[in-house]
Amino acid sequence: MRAPLILLVFFQVLATILFPVSVSSLDEAYPSPYQDDEASCFKKTETLQPIRREIYGNGRIIDITHKFTPKTLSGHPDGLVDFLKLSSDMRNGSLYNFSVMKLPLHSGTHVDAPGHMVADYFDAGFDVDTLDLDVLNGPALLVDVPRDSNITAKVMKSLNIPKGVRRVLFRTLNTDRGLMWKEEFDSSYVGFMKDGAQWLVDNTDIKLVGIDYLSVAADDDLVPAHLVFFEGREVILVEGLKLDGVKAGIYNVHCLPLRLVGAEGSPIRCILMK
Ligand SMILES: *[C@@H]1O[C@H](CO)[C@@H](O)[C@H](O)[C@H]1NC(C)=O
Ligand SMILES: *[C@@H]1O[C@H](CO)[C@@H](O)[C@H](O)[C@H]1NC(C)=O
Ligand SMILES: *[C@@H]1O[C@H](CO)[C@@H](O)[C@H](O)[C@H]1NC(C)=O
Repeated sequence: MRAPLILLVFFQVLATILFPVSVSSLDEAYPSPYQDDEASCFKKTETLQPIRREIYGNGRIIDITHKFTPKTLSGHPDGLVDFLKLSSDMRNGSLYNFSVMKLPLHSGTHVDAPGHMVADYFDAGFDVDTLDLDVLNGPALLVDVPRDSNITAKVMKSLNIPKGVRRVLFRTLNTDRGLMWKEEFDSSYVGFMKDGAQWLVDNTDIKLVGIDYLSVAADDDLVPAHLVFFEGREVILVEGLKLDGVKAGIYNVHCLPLRLVGAEGSPIRCILMK
């Protein structure tokens, strides 16, 4: 039983000879925020600036989710004004700040569940918690659609999306017009017409449809085009994507809705990975 102990001592001595850098000098190379007085890292200094990113890992990860702010576009007339409120406030003697969120679910970047427009599906519980994460995560194609039309059957056909492609993010004139960045809802956005939705369902293997405005369906065909997608309960609709400045092509998409039982929509965080 002695042998392992002797070996351990031997290796420690060897390590000291081979790597004569002391632990304290390593500390200097990687200073711990806790090394001075405990509170120092909470002091307000001019360098206390959070970093907000759209791209991570030298371009490997692209965030295609819009930020939630009081100005974020929402399908709800009340919008997001006051969507975050402190329910406990340190200024009022609370031990902590604690916020509560009141968020219309079809706001900013979000996902629809089949119960959004089909009463029977809503009642049966086809909520966002039942959406297939396998559809929401995997290889995806980002395509540009022609800018002079809504997404009709003719447009879908012209895109020549090969069979086997299961996830497509459609970038449209909405991105060029910066519609998601505006404060007012604009009903002239581009989306699927009913025949475009039907063509997709009948002729492709696409199960994840992403688009760059609050609705995948053009305003003129708002309900009919949605219903074509919802009917089979296989296609998942992700709306309000931020596709600005991203090169068209193949990525891995990762989208995760919240597990909101009973909800027909959810905020969703979507990223593309190269
Ligand atoms: C804290 O006090 C301020 C001033 O009285 C009040 O406006 C604010 O609503 C309070 N916050 C909470 C969370 O109670
Ligand atoms: C708590 O919230 C107040 C706003 O009422 C803010 O001024 C303060 O900085 C917050 N404190 C912390 C520790 O975040
Ligand atoms: C798409 O349809 C909307 C109505 O739903 C219309 O206002 C808009 O002009 C159309 N866009 C294009 C590029 O045809």
